[in-house]
Amino acid sequence: MQTLTIHQQILEYLETQKDKYLNELFELLRIPSISADTQYKDKVLQTAEWLKNHAIELGFDNVQLLETNGFPVLYGEKIINPKFPTIIIYGHYDVQPADPIDLWETPAFEPTVRDGKIYARGATDDKGQFFMHFKAFELLQKTTGLPCNVKLMIEGEEEVGSPNLGPCLKKYKDLFQGDVILISDTSLISNDIPSITTGLRGLAYLEIEVTGPNRDLHSGTYGGAVYNPINVLCQMIAKLKDDDGVIQIPHFYDDVIIYSDEERKLMAEQPFDLEEYKKALDIEEVFGEKGYSTIERTSIRPCLDVNGIWGGYIGEGAKTVLPSKAYAKISMRLVPNQDPDKITQLFTDYFLSIAPKGVKVKVTPHHGGKPVLISLDSDAYKAASRAMETSFGKTPIPTKGGGSIPIVALFNEILNTPTVLMGFGLDSDALHSPNEHYGIFNFFKGIETIALFHHELKKIHG
Ligand code: BES
Ligand code: MN
Ligand code: MN
Repeated sequence: MQTLTIHQQILEYLETQKDKYLNELFELLRIPSISADTQYKDKVLQTAEWLKNHAIELGFDNVQLLETNGFPVLYGEKIINPKFPTIIIYGHYDVQPADPIDLWETPAFEPTVRDGKIYARGATDDKGQFFMHFKAFELLQKTTGLPCNVKLMIEGEEEVGSPNLGPCLKKYKDLFQGDVILISDTSLISNDIPSITTGLRGLAYLEIEVTGPNRDLHSGTYGGAVYNPINVLCQMIAKLKDDDGVIQIPHFYDDVIIYSDEERKLMAEQPFDLEEYKKALDIEEVFGEKGYSTIERTSIRPCLDVNGIWGGYIGEGAKTVLPSKAYAKISMRLVPNQDPDKITQLFTDYFLSIAPKGVKVKVTPHHGGKPVLISLDSDAYKAASRAMETSFGKTPIPTKGGGSIPIVALFNEILNTPTVLMGFGLDSDALHSPNEHYGIFNFFKGIETIALFHHELKKIHG
């Protein structure tokens, strides 16, 4: 009798489980676990409970919801042999709000399949992605057996900056000992060009309040005689960048890593179609820091964006008012070795220095996170690379992601454990947007690749 390779065993069994796995994912996607909105608190907790029960059903031991000052962290473990390598799976069960709801073609929390894609909030970020790890665990147990130990670390506050995971890691440091933290919460270049994310940008997020006169005024009787805080705020925002997209905050770029021409040449070889990019976004021209490509602008260079701006009258019709206050939310994506606290301070100093005397300006920092760089030299990276090579038939390309997962920097600092960002989403999955989706191909390819990863890591470790 001909014996099947590990890959064949995985594929053969996966084929028989596809409907079951999808239906389970749909159950998970139906619970609206929006961490930012207190109205959904019960739903977030319900999701944690659902996962806890699911982990128990799958055969994880010592399953518990670790209490934090916010939403709990799911822990579970399967130690088959303390001498074998241990894979810690990180993911987040919370999701972004579904707004604007009107723009969803089908309800955000009623998963629907169209054109081979699962449409739902959390489909790609991150329920559909971390759930692949649960299914790979199940599949391995039913086929080849587990080659490595496995631990779960699934949190419920990533989308609000993971404020309580750091303290939780410190408290349960012993529980979270392992050889690699494996995360699927990033994107591939495309479904036929596999990639592994080796860098993430950091984040500094602030809220601005500009106050002019002590109350809203008639825009006729006072108009032309006092500072309008909305006008002032717009002028101040305009001074944050010049026409070349260069951020004007003094010392902002001081700690930015400069890449050699050679490294930039390698980056330029990455498959990228600017025309396709523009077409997909319905724009005539891209814009960013002069002297850098689009890939560079979204990976190795920092950026500054207004995320929201409001004030005055925004209701129906017209109201002639000169408002008392104006507001904005501003984010800065940071790259190694920029520090979010330092950047927040630099921003605040500069912003206050450009405010005219006739207004009061308040800058309130929100969450932040440090940027990360991941080495290609670890056993875990090699295992991920080999697993993808087998499942995709191509060696994955290392890429740097533009988004942020603030907790990754802390994995290094607190646990001293390397991270591998082996994500299977696509940048076009509309994460955080209406009609978020995740390819069914990606879901199953992910399960297949993750199962292979366990075997590759064991092989390398011996
Ligand atoms: N999964 C994303 C981060 C991401 C997206 C990495 C795409 C790479 C490619 C994560 O859930 C996320 O949205 N992070 C937030 C950070 C946060 C503090 C809310 C982000 O990047 O805005
Ligand atoms: Mn995510
Ligand atoms: Mn997200």
